[in-house]
Amino acid sequence: MHAITIPEPGGPEALVWGEVPDPVVGEGEVLVDVVATAVNRADILQRQGFYDPPPGTSPYPGLECSGRVAQVGPGVSGWAVGDEVCALLSGGGYAEKVAVPAGQLLPVPEGIGVDRAAALPEVVCTVWSNVFMVAHLRPGETFLVHGGSSGIGTMAVQLAKAVGAKVAVTAGTEEKLERCAELGADILINYREQDFVAELREATDGKGADVILDNMGAKYLDRNVQALAVNGRLVIIGMQGGVKGELNIGALLAKRAAITATTLRARPVEEKAAIVAAVREHVWPLVSGGHVRPVIDREIPMPDAAEAHRVVEDSSHIGKVLLVTPR
Ligand SMILES: NC(=O)c1ccc[n+]([C@@H]2O[C@H](COP(=O)([O-])OP(=O)(O)OC[C@H]3O[C@@H](n4cnc5c(N)ncnc54)[C@H](OP(=O)(O)O)[C@@H]3O)[C@@H](O)[C@H]2O)c1
Repeated sequence: MHAITIPEPGGPEALVWGEVPDPVVGEGEVLVDVVATAVNRADILQRQGFYDPPPGTSPYPGLECSGRVAQVGPGVSGWAVGDEVCALLSGGGYAEKVAVPAGQLLPVPEGIGVDRAAALPEVVCTVWSNVFMVAHLRPGETFLVHGGSSGIGTMAVQLAKAVGAKVAVTAGTEEKLERCAELGADILINYREQDFVAELREATDGKGADVILDNMGAKYLDRNVQALAVNGRLVIIGMQGGVKGELNIGALLAKRAAITATTLRARPVEEKAAIVAAVREHVWPLVSGGHVRPVIDREIPMPDAAEAHRVVEDSSHIGKVLLVTPR
């Protein structure tokens, strides 16, 4: 098969489309003929040499894919050759075929084309596991997501609205804020021109956010704690603003607030399967019912992955950038 390899870490040109051995399907796994994958920020870090795949997983980038089942491995039930699926991966989505633990497969939701379904698994599983399974966002609460127009952000806005939360977003341009509003965001904050702590306080009668989903890490740590409501929950999933920050424990304590940080990729197979099962139960009906949809900026042929990485690194996209396998 062909896959995007990274012979030497570096810029986008480090991504090379070449011939590689087919994956071997192990016990409990399913082989998927990949129709599409999607770019995640983690793929850029992997390309740069800063984010190695977990031991025993595919060396190729790609944390999600969609396609058709090509082979069912030993010990797997419930899936058949030809089924249209999408999958949460530990890597290997930038390829014509990938072997996936069966618990990480999802059916392509009704009304979504098989290629577009590649935009869903990583963002839905990340948002559901952090905002709902960890931070327990409830109807009527206020939710802030930084980078509201990102792949993660566009899904977080829709899911938080679907459960009846009031949603605040930060983004760097008015156009991106408008797209967030179209998805249902109530409070729009331009992080380049406005102070999100002050804006959020004003919009919530001084209360702040009950749950914050943060992509910035160190740079926003202090201000995120300031922006939390009493009993608030801050979940950090990204470190775009650095890894070491200073925390005012007094402020956290006075608010009886919690800070959690998680990563999805390194979780054991069983934990991923539990998240995928929860997503199938709670989110898939929302997608099939048309209440939540993948937001796709553009589709690019997989051999041109370098171009897709440039788009995401420049943040010129809204939602997800897909890579489609040549046929
Ligand atoms: N821990 C996990 O398991 C996990 C899983 C998936 C993703 N993530 C993380 O989630 C984040 C989003 O991922 P993605 O793939 O959706 O990325 P993405 O589409 O590339 O989006 C990155 C976002 O960061 C925003 N941003 C940049 N500087 C900002 C600032 N100062 N304040 C607020 N927002 C700012 C950008 O906003 P503008 O475009 O408006 O500038 C953009 O929306 C990344 O940090 C990624 O590593 C973590």
